Amino acid sequence: MSNYHIKHLEEYYQVYRKSLRNPEAFWEEIAEEHFLWRKKWDRVLSWDFSKPEIKWFEGAQLNITENCIDRHLTTRGEKTAILFEPNDPNDPAEHITYNDLYARVNKFANVLKAQGIKKGDRVCIYLPMIPELAISVLACARIGAIHSVVFAGFSSTALSTRINDSDCKMVLTSDGSYRGSKTIDLKGIVDEALESCPDVHTVLVAKRIHSDINMKSGRDQWLQPLLDNASVDCEAEIMQAEDPLFILYTSGSTGKPKGMVHTTAGYMVYTAYTFKNVFQYKEDDVYWCTADIGWITGHSYIVYGPLANGATTVMFEGVPSYPDFGRFWDIVQKHKVNQFYTAPTAIRALAKQGTELVEKYDLSSLKVLGSVGEPINEEAWHWYNDNIGKKQSPIVDTWWQTETGGIMVSPIPFVTPTKPTYATLPFIGIQPALMDENGQELKGNQVEGRLCIKFPWPSIARTIWGNHERYKETYFSAYENKYFTGDGALRDEVGYYRITGRVDDVIIVSGHNLGTAPIEDAVNEHPAVAESAIVGFPHDVKGSALYGYVTLKDTGESRNHDNLRKEINQIITEHIGPIAKLDKIQFTSGLPKTRSGKIMRRILRKIAHKDTSNLGDTSTLLNPEVVQDIMDNVL
Ligand code: WT7
Repeated sequence: MSNYHIKHLEEYYQVYRKSLRNPEAFWEEIAEEHFLWRKKWDRVLSWDFSKPEIKWFEGAQLNITENCIDRHLTTRGEKTAILFEPNDPNDPAEHITYNDLYARVNKFANVLKAQGIKKGDRVCIYLPMIPELAISVLACARIGAIHSVVFAGFSSTALSTRINDSDCKMVLTSDGSYRGSKTIDLKGIVDEALESCPDVHTVLVAKRIHSDINMKSGRDQWLQPLLDNASVDCEAEIMQAEDPLFILYTSGSTGKPKGMVHTTAGYMVYTAYTFKNVFQYKEDDVYWCTADIGWITGHSYIVYGPLANGATTVMFEGVPSYPDFGRFWDIVQKHKVNQFYTAPTAIRALAKQGTELVEKYDLSSLKVLGSVGEPINEEAWHWYNDNIGKKQSPIVDTWWQTETGGIMVSPIPFVTPTKPTYATLPFIGIQPALMDENGQELKGNQVEGRLCIKFPWPSIARTIWGNHERYKETYFSAYENKYFTGDGALRDEVGYYRITGRVDDVIIVSGHNLGTAPIEDAVNEHPAVAESAIVGFPHDVKGSALYGYVTLKDTGESRNHDNLRKEINQIITEHIGPIAKLDKIQFTSGLPKTRSGKIMRRILRKIAHKDTSNLGDTSTLLNPEVVQDIMDNVL
């Protein structure tokens, strides 16, 4: 029992060492004592990073929704499970108790079944942050369907790519969504996407904004009448430990998005255990993660981790700036939030507004503050610590990834002394390694290198949907027998980790992982564009923003650059979504290339950073003359 809830630093080190000495015994004990199993495992762990193949709790049978809902009913039936805070502050918040959740998930699960969805089928969920989103995720899990949530800010093209990649036959959506003072026509986006998804036979539509939308007969149905007629009893499907629970897409540095596959037992155990410790959640606390369930943060730390612990988890539909920039603090005060988990980009945007809107609210309920998604800079860290936490609430800077399923490096609040910009210590069971350029592990402290993980943890993604070879290539081929994260990190004199950022062509914009390749593909769709290269550059709110170098086709006619910029961003919005728009677009006479024709992004990155003192040797380039031209015209 004691290992489940770490309470002081000495205990962290003890438990950490224990988890490394005998990982199987360690995780077996956690799994045994804190979860509901239909059948226990035959084997705790088998793994081989060279294949790669990783199996946790093989032979075990369970249903994650029985762990997240059913088992709480006797002790917490009337406790709020999901506290829904709507976009409009004048609309009442909705307290969905564990009893309610049980009934609503079962009804939804029965609707899915009645529509022909079975264990193993993929269901695409394209919903805004309304209760139906969390409920449909759990309904899929109830019947063993694999959910693939697509963030409802993605465009129709991005949606159709994801639907087709994992062969979803059904899409769950809504008539529209609220976003501050705006509404978004989600159903219109779905209709457009489905023009290129011939295999989708059913679309269930939740009513949210009551707009007049087009319902395609034979394909689209309103959700509510189906729910009204469904039974509240739905036997949970018995799942094998390694059955897929969900697919979630993340961008890579090249190629199409990767459908990361997470499986059932290990994911449940790890997200529950990290939630309990990283947020020091106590019964009756109100926990709020501001992420969208369309990202892994929402999957693991709005839905599964909190509910597996019988927690109260806040789900917020709106945006931090509506009706004004005090909204987050208004919600903290209103619901007496104890743990608050957000992203550095939000903190920077709020810090820009000053402290007036913070001081209006009573934030004394707060005990723990969290940060996730990108490195938190020192200034934002202090603003958060001083003004929100009043220096009383430790900040947990949690480093992890879509692929890792759960938090990997983080302080444990009130246990690990924090240090600005440091994610600090590896979580229990996590074995990081820093690698040098020659593929050697850097031992000892005060070293900097590429961050790898040497040993499997229960919630590591098991494959990329439909492309195991790519999974192997992306994560397990850079260093033998290690999972490569794509991030750089340093380890300080006491063994604390500081994540220094991506070492590949993934750019983190406002905490969203954007691969450059799909954006370049979109830019190149513009009829006037010959080629393009996209790099990141520092931005005071977004962390990084996108800088595009674009070479136009030589047609002899002159073009209006401002119009072109708008058109290019419009294409990006259509192909990916507004989050991938370029902040700066520089038109160039050419792009610096190696003799083998590869674009030298390193040089372009330095120019965009206005760091041209040391560009390195450019003489070996195919076209060294363009470098000066690009520098002269930098934006
Ligand atoms: C990448 C993963 C984990 C959920 C949100 C993002 C960066 C994430 C931190 C942090 C520094 C961080 C890394 C990582 N990142 N958290 N606390 N400090 N960097 O998930 O979209 O899969 O992105 O986000 O670069 O590789 P994701």
